[in-house]
Amino acid sequence: MDGSVQARAATATALVEDSLRGLRGTPKVLSPKWLYDPRGSALFEQITTLPEYYLTRSEAAILSAHADRLAGLVPEGGALVEFGSGASVKTRTLLDAGGHFGAYVPIDISEDFLQQTAQGLRAAYPGMQIAPVVADFSEAVTLPEGLADAPKVGFFPGSTIGNLPPETATALLAHARAWPGAQGFILGVDLVKDRGELVAAYDDSQGVTAQFIGNILQRLNSEAGADFELTQFAYRARWNAAAARIDMELVSTCHQSVALDGETIDFAPGEPIHVSASRKYTRESLSALVAPAGWQLAELLFDEAERFAMAVLSPG
Ligand code: TRP
Repeated sequence: MDGSVQARAATATALVEDSLRGLRGTPKVLSPKWLYDPRGSALFEQITTLPEYYLTRSEAAILSAHADRLAGLVPEGGALVEFGSGASVKTRTLLDAGGHFGAYVPIDISEDFLQQTAQGLRAAYPGMQIAPVVADFSEAVTLPEGLADAPKVGFFPGSTIGNLPPETATALLAHARAWPGAQGFILGVDLVKDRGELVAAYDDSQGVTAQFIGNILQRLNSEAGADFELTQFAYRARWNAAAARIDMELVSTCHQSVALDGETIDFAPGEPIHVSASRKYTRESLSALVAPAGWQLAELLFDEAERFAMAVLSPG
């Protein structure tokens, strides 16, 4: 097998093992990390432009309005370290204002994409060291050795922190707090608001989010030989007030059995598979999230409608 065939086989094995573990339990769960194959990533890009999905626009507005202030959190010659950087599109607003940055460290799980993005950034910011790190940011990340002594500011936009289980979110923030030279952290978070507005953002009228979530079953069919009947699972987004989060689920519309890697998974009518959660915060819940990781909430920057916030954290 050549490298890419091998890598694909390893991914298929991990996808099957992780999914079987989740589907054997009650309630049934699938991990949102499997949503982002090339088709899923393209669908997510589309989500960020939907009229109902205000998050991306609100965050971009905050970054533009406060670019100098946020870039100024990084000391002269320091490093901005981004979790889950993707194409680093929104980061460019900070890099444009960060002529004094010594380095930008994008961390992402997709190596090809990361290297390609790094090339583009090197051309656009010739004075800045671009030091990509391939890593799953839900585990401890090893930063480039040359940056050991540099002051560092973490950057985690997109309210992606809200997609992580709370213990994973705390661990990520605690790791960033433990970096030598940790100076601060810029965290993008979505805010608790009207239930209708929240649900619409995760259940859009064009059905793009439903396709995005349903893509996980399609992946299990095409990459793991499962036989999910896609028309027999309905997408549902619900506001879970007790946990202050949107739950995204695929609900079995009938009694059915699905074969996956030699096992049979039975579904009752109305039985959900939980695929993703998106937590929403208040000033209080955000302070409580970051404090156990050794940070304090220094400042909250809002968009005009106060739908979304960039939280500035300082060592607590
Ligand atoms: N961080 C994004 C959010 O919580 C991710 C996201 C947007 C998402 N739409 C989604 C995740 C739909 C799963 C399903 O808003």
